[in-house]
Amino acid sequence: MRLTVIGTGYLGATHAACMAELGHDVLGVDVDPDKVAALAAGRVPFHEPGLGELVRKHLASGRLRFTTSCEEAAAFGQVHFVCVGTPQRKDSEGADLTYVDAAFAAIAEHASQGALLVGKSTVPVGTARRLADAHAVEVAWNPEFLREGFAVQDTLRPDRLVFGVESERAETLLREVYAPVLAAGTPLVTADFPTAELVKTAANAFLATKISFINAMAEVCEAAGGDVSVLAEALGHDERIGGKFLRAGVGFGGGCLPKDIRAFAHRAGELGVSLGFLREVDAINMRRRDKVVALARELCGGGVLGARIAVLGAAFKPDSDDIRDSPALNVAARLKLDGADVTVYDPEAMDNARKAFPLLGYAVSAEEALRGADLVLHLTEWPQFRALDPGRLASLVSRPRIVDGRGVLDADRWTAAGWQFRALGKPA
Ligand code: UGA
Repeated sequence: MRLTVIGTGYLGATHAACMAELGHDVLGVDVDPDKVAALAAGRVPFHEPGLGELVRKHLASGRLRFTTSCEEAAAFGQVHFVCVGTPQRKDSEGADLTYVDAAFAAIAEHASQGALLVGKSTVPVGTARRLADAHAVEVAWNPEFLREGFAVQDTLRPDRLVFGVESERAETLLREVYAPVLAAGTPLVTADFPTAELVKTAANAFLATKISFINAMAEVCEAAGGDVSVLAEALGHDERIGGKFLRAGVGFGGGCLPKDIRAFAHRAGELGVSLGFLREVDAINMRRRDKVVALARELCGGGVLGARIAVLGAAFKPDSDDIRDSPALNVAARLKLDGADVTVYDPEAMDNARKAFPLLGYAVSAEEALRGADLVLHLTEWPQFRALDPGRLASLVSRPRIVDGRGVLDADRWTAAGWQFRALGKPA
């Protein structure tokens, strides 16, 4: 089939390359000429394992091309996937639909007879209906559940496919697009527009709630002297609860969960439904960042003014260079504001961090960041940091004190090497 993918960010670039992998002829379109030039040259402008290889494979196979021309895209595709961003609005907690509206309008205006416009972006419930009513083209909604860092595998082997469709024809076209994925046994849920849109927001709200639940338990453990890692392990053995997304720490960040729960609560409010618990989920999440800042102050003797603090991690999670709403950088910036001398190291996110937080210090390695530090904060759980040798590092720092903000470092190893070791949700 001939497919277009509008928007070539994390979602769109991955979707375009994966659709080519499924055997389709794909044209990716973006208004940003730099992004298009990079992708057309086989360079993915962000860190996503396996994606560069896939893009280059299908540039070479001739099944994948990129353009800045919406008219070319509209004329090319039988099915158009809209993968543009829906950031938080500047004036409220709702989602900014400017890019989604513009993409639908641009494609709908020039689309060929019988084209199907498929939304993949995360949108407030009611958006698909509004777009279908506004444009003389058929619309479907096909939410995306990929995780950064696992984008390719999540797209090619998703847990489920969700089609929000209003006609048999739309369902047939989408079944054809995803034929190899469906043939591999992937469950398919077909739904009306509002339900399809809600699957996505509800899924992210559930995941955020799960993380904040365990982080609230971490707060209780801190007050009662318990250990949240052991608690989470024991809870996770109950299959009804499950161990995934039950890792306590400095909380969730990124371009999705934080903004999606706010937009969802906001949209529900417009519909007259109170999702007040999502505000608490958000509040618990932000309190974990406060907790790390408070621990840093405590460990530095009551204040961080003039203290040298090394921050390990800048990305919002490992295997990503995405720093959007990163807990690590939020904590680093706050300590800098409090007068600390903060040096950050991250294996992949340094360029993005430097651009967004130019006043922080940056090191070329974890060792360099730690040199002379009064305190180390471990805030993004890259495997490289777990592999660090606490014994060797103890001789580099000014004082061997570390806060594990992700609950994955081996406390016994660090303590045995002479470090004062603190972790969120665990006894001091
Ligand atoms: C999330 C969802 O997991 C995807 O299913 C969804 O498609 C995506 O948002 C989206 O809406 O596009 P992503 O933002 O890539 O994916 O990252 P996650 O792996 O969900 O992690 C989110 C945050 O939660 C990270 O900061 C991570 O460190 C944190 N986290 C995750 C925890 O603090 N504890 C956990 O147990 C798991």
